[in-house]
Amino acid sequence: MFSIGTVSISNRIIAAPMAGITDKANRIIARSFGCGMTCSEMISDMGLIYGQKKTQHIADTSGESKPVSIQIFGSDPEKIAQGAVIVEEMGADIIDINMGCPTPKIIKNGEGSALMLDLPRSRDIIRSIVKAVRVPVTVKMRRGWEDGSTTCLELAAIAEQEGAKAVTLHARSRMQFYSGQADWALIKELKKNSSIPVIGNGDIWSADDAVRMLEETGCDAVMIGRAAMGNPFIFREAAELVEKGNRIQPPTFDERIHTAIRHLDLACSFKGEAVAVREMRKHFSWYIKGRSGAAKIRLLINTAQSRDQLIQAIGARHKY
Ligand SMILES: Cc1cc2nc3c(=O)[nH]c(=O)nc-3n(C[C@H](O)[C@H](O)[C@H](O)COP(=O)(O)O)c2cc1C
Repeated sequence: MFSIGTVSISNRIIAAPMAGITDKANRIIARSFGCGMTCSEMISDMGLIYGQKKTQHIADTSGESKPVSIQIFGSDPEKIAQGAVIVEEMGADIIDINMGCPTPKIIKNGEGSALMLDLPRSRDIIRSIVKAVRVPVTVKMRRGWEDGSTTCLELAAIAEQEGAKAVTLHARSRMQFYSGQADWALIKELKKNSSIPVIGNGDIWSADDAVRMLEETGCDAVMIGRAAMGNPFIFREAAELVEKGNRIQPPTFDERIHTAIRHLDLACSFKGEAVAVREMRKHFSWYIKGRSGAAKIRLLINTAQSRDQLIQAIGARHKY
């Protein structure tokens, strides 16, 4: 158990925000396997301000196990604070500011990791959101722009001074995107320099990695992203190992199939069958990764047009 401001989190395993992946259905599945907190996909402040239906849909956390952190992005201190007020009213338990996204579409607007090149603006953004909302505000960042950069140390100090209640460090630079390795030594350094909780992130691929990051860096919690794609079981494995020292067996084939279908049915209920089937194809491919004949199954998954075809494609042994 640890806390971010006034929000208690039942364990030190957090599901990372991932655009196009961590929607409501995904978060419900992740929580059901025991992560302590989930995060929304990144949400545009302007989309919130204009009341865009799609944006509102992404920000909706009704009916989910709490806490859920809602992540927003933007570059204008006043506008992003307006967006923060909207997601607070919609029920966000924590508001996270995206200062790490490396994609050109975001960078060109001065958003995401571009903010690591403009610390005065980053300070204004954090300050104006903290002033505007009552829920805890957190900042998710990379190490900096260039390889080897340590801008995160300055940005985390700014975040703390401005009243942020935790920081998450994905210890890669913007220029690295997802290549190379996350520099866990930098997470350790950041933790040494911070009085607010530090969440370590980057390259946790197993429960053992989660334990190792906590031990090696002293961070307060770990955040798991890519390893959970089609593998929400990692949350159960990591939570059990970190909190109780228990080593859990990997899921059986039947449990994988059952979970994929539960995930699909949740997606259908939130988005309708047509959209859900299209979006769930990638998840189904991840759920069956490593199975014998996976390439052939993937072909069937990618041509499935309905819920039942998708289920048939992965060779479910029972009727669902
Ligand atoms: C497809 C994808 C989408 C992502 N979207 C977001 C996002 O919306 N907001 C964010 O802060 N990070 C995002 N990330 C970064 C992850 O949250 C995380 O920092 C990164 O993947 C490193 O952690 P990992 O090694 O556990 O995957 C995304 C990553 C991936 C692979």
